[in-house]
Amino acid sequence: MSINPRRQYTKHPSLTSQRVNQLSPSGIRKFFDLLASTEGVISLGVGEPDFATPWHISEAAINSLGKGYTMYTSNLGMPELRQELSRYLKDTYNLEYDPNSELLITVGVSEALDLAMRAILDPGDEVIMPDPCYVSYNSCVILAGGTPVMVPTNQENDFEISAADIEARVTNKTKAILIGYPANPTGAVMTREKLAEIAEVAQRHQLLVISDEIYAKLVYGVEHTCFTTLPGMKETTIFLSGFSKAYAMTGWRIGYAAAPREIIAAMTKIHQYTIMCAPTMAQVAAIEALKSGETNATEMVEDYNRRRLVIVKGLNDIGLPCFEPRGAFYAFPSIKGTGMTSEEFAEKLLVEEKVAVVPGSAFGQCGEGYVRCCYATALADIKEALSRMKRFVDKHQVV
Ligand SMILES: Cc1ncc(COP(=O)(O)O)c(C=O)c1O
Repeated sequence: MSINPRRQYTKHPSLTSQRVNQLSPSGIRKFFDLLASTEGVISLGVGEPDFATPWHISEAAINSLGKGYTMYTSNLGMPELRQELSRYLKDTYNLEYDPNSELLITVGVSEALDLAMRAILDPGDEVIMPDPCYVSYNSCVILAGGTPVMVPTNQENDFEISAADIEARVTNKTKAILIGYPANPTGAVMTREKLAEIAEVAQRHQLLVISDEIYAKLVYGVEHTCFTTLPGMKETTIFLSGFSKAYAMTGWRIGYAAAPREIIAAMTKIHQYTIMCAPTMAQVAAIEALKSGETNATEMVEDYNRRRLVIVKGLNDIGLPCFEPRGAFYAFPSIKGTGMTSEEFAEKLLVEEKVAVVPGSAFGQCGEGYVRCCYATALADIKEALSRMKRFVDKHQVV
């Protein structure tokens, strides 16, 4: 016989915490569920590479099992991985991070984001971030007891967050600015000059910056600026990145944080009690990716670029205006001309034409009126999706 817990614990207004009750379920999940139950769908929905992990990376991990690498590692991550990562950050950005105290290997950037927020926030602390933005930014802040403060961004400004808009929202409770460029869901990138303006605001108001640079390698015709390389920012920036996107390793669950030792020590405290260490096999794979994965990453980026050009032109031709995304693997066209909300558009497109996109509203209020189309999918599928979308838009366009 099942017991109704509500009847047993009547003194509690809710069985679950108010903090969790505040969160809305990810708007992306709902579409994955719909997608899974529909045949013949072309998915531009899920934000992950369609490539398999390069074989030499997988092989390194498989071989490690035979060699007995099946145990916990140090909480911070394998020393060899931290050393390799330290070398990589020096070679790539000329940044010096001490592998023994300033780097932490995590279960993806997802865990690193959560740890960063829990390590720095006290109840009521505010974190300023762009709207729209990656779905977990907001939730990680709320789960850590903080308050997200959203800064609207728009297509006219290429979805860049402006330093002036950030500064206008600074209060005496503001603890940090959270940014992620190249951006999910918009594909926006920011120039060094504009990031430097944000750095100035951070310094003027003594704010920490959390910079999620998971798409750093996925840029097209522009340079990625690592926020930490801006003058004076290394001391107050929590730099997050990982292996999921650049090396097609989403399922391995491996990422890292690079930050001042005091912050890494605090993040490690939480990590050691909740996670212990990132998966050992994935850490071995990450070492191989850092040592010999560069060519694979470059080849995948070249391929994404070919698809990017096709999808952006295709969407504009159909009548879904799309600014040119210079990073990540997302196009973020406006669907305002159809008169539908982004959720209606995504649902109808899935039902009528079997193309899955994600409603922009899943990424914040300013995402309303847009849909996210991930082009990390085969070129033939992108072309077929575009022709189905054309039929759909022709049918629904408001004149
Ligand atoms: C901007 C951004 N940050 C972080 C993540 C999470 O990445 P990971 O697989 O490393 O946890 C994603 C995944 O889509 C993302 O788009």
